Amino acid sequence: MSGEAQLFFRQLISNPRQISALAPSSRALARAMAEGLGPHSGPVVEFGPGTGRLTEGILAAGVAPHNLTLFEMNGEFVGHLRHRFPGVHVVHGPAQAAPGHMTVPVAHVISGLPLLSMPTGLREEIVAAAFAVLAPGGEYVQFTYGPKPALTPDQMARLRLTVRPGRRVWTNLPPARVYRFRRA
Ligand SMILES: C[S@@+](CC[C@H](N)C(=O)[O-])C[C@H]1O[C@@H](n2cnc3c(N)ncnc32)[C@H](O)[C@@H]1O
Repeated sequence: MSGEAQLFFRQLISNPRQISALAPSSRALARAMAEGLGPHSGPVVEFGPGTGRLTEGILAAGVAPHNLTLFEMNGEFVGHLRHRFPGVHVVHGPAQAAPGHMTVPVAHVISGLPLLSMPTGLREEIVAAAFAVLAPGGEYVQFTYGPKPALTPDQMARLRLTVRPGRRVWTNLPPARVYRFRRA
C-alpha cells in the first residue's frame, strides 16, 4: 500500500466521521470534477482535499498552483498537502471559514467534502460559504455517492441555487455523481 493510502486509512480509522469515505476518489472522478477548469480559470478553491486526489486533477487541468487554495480540517492531511503541492495555498481550517480567508472572488469551488454524512444545517452553511467566495456566475462542484444532490429543495430555494447533474463515474469506490450548482 502506498504511503498516501496508508495516511488515508490511518485518518479514516481515527476520524471516521470527518473522512466518511471508503477510499480516496479515483483519478476518473478527479478528472470529472475538474472538467472545464484550465489555465484561464483564475483563482480556484477546493474544500476537503484529504490526500489530494482532486487537487491532482485540478492542477492537471492547468490551474496554476498559486491560483489554488485548499481548506482542510485534518492536520495530518494539511502537512502532507503542503509537502506534496508546493505553491498551493493550504488553509488548515474548515471550509465554512473560507469567506474570512479569501480576498478575491473565485469562479470555481470544487468540493470533496462528505456533505451527505453531515447534519443538514452544516451542509447549508458550507454551501453558503462557497457562494460567499464565488463571483457572480461562479459554480460549486460537489460529488455525492447518493442518487440526489446533497441539498434539499428547501435549502436550494433559500440559497437561490440551481443544480445540474454532471458525469456519473462508475470507476470510483463507490460510484459517484458530480453535481454543479449555480446561483439562479
Ligand atoms: C471523503 S474525504 C475526501 C478526500 C478527497 N477530496 C478525495 O476525494 O479523495 C473528506 C475530507 O474532507 C475533510 N473535511 C471534513 N469536514 C471538513 C470541513 N468542514 N472543512 C474542511 N475539510 C473537511 C476531511 O478531513 C477529509 O480530508
